[in-house]
Amino acid sequence: MIIKTFKTAEEIGVAVAEIFTKQVKNKPDSVLGLATGATPIPTYNNIIKNFNEGDFSFKAVKTYNLDEYCNLPKEDKNSYYTFMHKQLFDSLDILEENVHFLDGNAADTEAECKRYDDEINAAGGIDIQLLGIGNNAHIGFNEPADEFTNGSFKITLTQSTIDANKIYFDENPMPTHALTMGIKQIMSAKQIILIATGPKKAEAIKNMIEGPVTPQVPASILQEHDDVLIFLDEDAASLLTK
Ligand code: PGA
Repeated sequence: MIIKTFKTAEEIGVAVAEIFTKQVKNKPDSVLGLATGATPIPTYNNIIKNFNEGDFSFKAVKTYNLDEYCNLPKEDKNSYYTFMHKQLFDSLDILEENVHFLDGNAADTEAECKRYDDEINAAGGIDIQLLGIGNNAHIGFNEPADEFTNGSFKITLTQSTIDANKIYFDENPMPTHALTMGIKQIMSAKQIILIATGPKKAEAIKNMIEGPVTPQVPASILQEHDDVLIFLDEDAASLLTK
């Protein structure tokens, strides 16, 4: 793991956007694994800025998002489909047919998860997977568990995750289930970039980096990947001792 600490979330956004920009310039048909939540927003803003200022295109890029809520219409303002379009896709020249999500409303979730994993594999796998981290060290929606998961699957969200995300659900109750890429699927990305900002992430970051590899700290598995970049602000890094 390479750990980089920055003063502000905005500086991280500039640095991570630069990596994605170079990736797309060098490989116009890159396959990108993308994340939702508050954390990647500065990165997405800076990717848009680079796109507006640069001479490169997302027309051949394919994206696969980490997860999607179950039982929430795709067009709901809180779906991850809506989030990604608003925060990133609508401002790029990416083609709608190239942006991919798990369908949290699929009748047969097992078949849906298999379809998604097969599509990612058929696309050649993910070049760069962007991750945030939950207060409980989840990645995607892989909550603390007894075993590391494999491919995409349906998860029951923990109270910690519901508490962290329910602020966005002012009208309808927050969904209790989601479809998410599994740990093995995330680990098969060629490069992984994890961003954590703010004091609420400090303990998860300490456990992820300095603790044992255990499914009770899902992000700790990243210790076993050989190309991981961790971007932290000073608050998220504050409990690291080494
Ligand atoms: P956040 O979520 O960026 O909104 O903090 C991160 C996550 O749950 O993975």
